[in-house]
Formats: sequence, structure tokens, C-alpha cells
Amino acid sequence: MDVVQAISKRRSIRKFLDKDVAGDEIDLLLEAARLAPSGLNAQPWRFRIIQNKDDITWLSREAVKGQRWVGGANIIFVCCADLTRYLEDAGASVRFLRDSGVLPPEMLAGIEEYLQKARDASSELLRGAAAANCSIAITQIMLQAVELGLGTCWIGMYDEEAIKEKFNIPEQMAVVALLAAGYPAENPGPRPRKSREEIILP
Ligand SMILES: Cc1cc2nc3c(=O)[nH]c(=O)nc-3n(C[C@H](O)[C@H](O)[C@H](O)COP(=O)(O)O)c2cc1C
Repeated sequence: MDVVQAISKRRSIRKFLDKDVAGDEIDLLLEAARLAPSGLNAQPWRFRIIQNKDDITWLSREAVKGQRWVGGANIIFVCCADLTRYLEDAGASVRFLRDSGVLPPEMLAGIEEYLQKARDASSELLRGAAAANCSIAITQIMLQAVELGLGTCWIGMYDEEAIKEKFNIPEQMAVVALLAAGYPAENPGPRPRKSREEIILP
């Protein structure tokens, strides 16, 4: 399968077979995430993998605002951004770029300013920037899943505090999404999309 096929075949799947996703398939999904690009190569994504049936059932209630279909997933990825390491690792990249002398000084100044802006930003802004990076990793998981014959659905509606408490997720982690995955038990058609004209600014 090539990328074009994976992109066009992907659907949000909300019904799953009672069949386990194999360990080596999970490894491939995580590898797809690991290889994602990120600003200053900071790689802020962290995943808690939930496979225990009771935990998935717990997740399918108030934690996802009553989206009961979540209970049929075989795996839930709790997708987090490490907000502390995000800034530290971005800083380390800037130091590396500076010390290795690979960047012209005017570009280095721009990068240092970009990083300082992130350091001075409100926690909400920082969270948004880190979440944007994590979204790329999650998208790569979704596309790799298509090639493996797996279905996924991004879950954006959830109770972050309840989930962090239940799964002992450290304070500096922002939960930026949940991703349900498993073997699909449905084959939905494509959802509507805006036309090309609608997404091109004049
Ligand atoms: C940021 C984001 C949040 C979403 N949150 C939910 C959700 O909480 N529950 C759900 O059933 N689907 C959710 N979805 C899936 C969308 O409904 C779905 O992607 C959209 O309707 C297009 O359908 P498709 O993915 O099959 O192309 C979310 C998708 C994204 C990208």
C-alpha cells in the first residue's frame, strides 16, 4: 500500500472486532509515531497504551463524555505531550545547532528567539504548540494502522483530569488526544470533505 492509498482508505472506525492487535503491530504503530517530524526535533509525544479490558470499559463512560463505542476498542492510546521535556529538548537542539556551527548566525538568532517565545508563552500556548507536534505523530499512527488492516478513531472529547488520575499520568504531561484502535467491524464510506476551492485562499 502506498501513502495515497492509505490516506484515501482511512476512516474513523467506531466498531471493532473482538480480536487482539498483535505486539509487533503495536510496535509498528509506535515506530510510525517515533519517526514523526517535530519543531526543533523536540519529539514531545508520549503514549500510555491501554489494553486492559476493564480500563477500556472505564474509559468508555464519563471519561469520554459517554461515547460508549470506545468500550469496543482493542487498544486505546492515551496521547500525551511532555511539556517540560518539550522545552528542554528544544533547548538542547538549539544548543547543538549553535555549538556545531552548522547555522549562519542570523538564522541562529531567529531560532533562539523562537525558543525564547516558547519559554515565555502561557501554558495554554505551550500546550497548543506541543499538541500540534503530537498530532503529526498520531496521524502517522493512523496511516500506519490502515496498512496493517487496523481501524482507528481520534477521540477529542474526554476528561483530562480524570484520565490522568486513573492512569497515574505525571503532572507535566498534557493529554492531547485519545486514539482508539482495533480490527474494524465496520466499513464506512467517506465522510464529506470541503472542495479544493473552499480550502484555497484567493
Ligand atoms: C481532533 C479530532 C477530534 C475528534 N474527536 C472525536 C470524538 O471525540 N469522537 C468521535 O467519535 N470522533 C472524533 N473524531 C473523528 C471525526 O469525527 C472524524 O475524523 C471526521 O468526522 C471525519 O471522518 P473520517 O475520519 O472517517 O474521515 C475526531 C477527529 C479529530 C481529528
